[in-house]
Amino acid sequence: MIPVKAITLAAVLALPALALAQDAKEAVEARHGFMTMLGINMGQLAGMAKGEIAYDEAAATLAASNIVALTQYDAPALFVEGTSSKDMRDSEALPAIWENPDDFRAKFVALREAAAGSPEAVKGGQGNVGPVLQKLGGACKNCHDDYRKED
Ligand code: HEC
Repeated sequence: MIPVKAITLAAVLALPALALAQDAKEAVEARHGFMTMLGINMGQLAGMAKGEIAYDEAAATLAASNIVALTQYDAPALFVEGTSSKDMRDSEALPAIWENPDDFRAKFVALREAAAGSPEAVKGGQGNVGPVLQKLGGACKNCHDDYRKED
């Protein structure tokens, strides 16, 4: 009887462990994709601000709207335990995130707040893109400075 029980228990315990490892990998991939999408839309705005891409009001509004939409997603939830730069090779998430979860979340909320109103603010001409870009970029940097490992 004892060996059977032991096997059953081991099997039950092994399942969630495997599921967790898969969850961790998915969470890291998802947040990389999330950040990449932020970067793509910031790149659009930066191109227009610098004059490398012709100013296009609809395109600028769309890029800003995409950033607004992304910041509605609960991205801090993708930073699950055991996925710091110390735990995984492809993670640049500093362990400080898990030491200061409230501050990390506050810095994400700050980006959400910086993004609010930006689809309207980029309308009206190329000159309006730069200030929006600076405001958004400041919120990215504020978090990266404390919580993203430098390459
Ligand atoms: C609340 C904190 C926070 C905010 C705000 C934030 N980031 Fe990040 N970002 C991170 C962390 C942490 C990482 C490292 C994630 C990892 O490697 O798992 C990262 C990674 C990235 C990456 C690299 C993704 C990859 O594939 O390795 C890009 C690009 C990026 N961020 C762009 C941005 C842009 C653009 C903004 C602003 C519009 C922004 N981030 C705002 C925390 C933040």
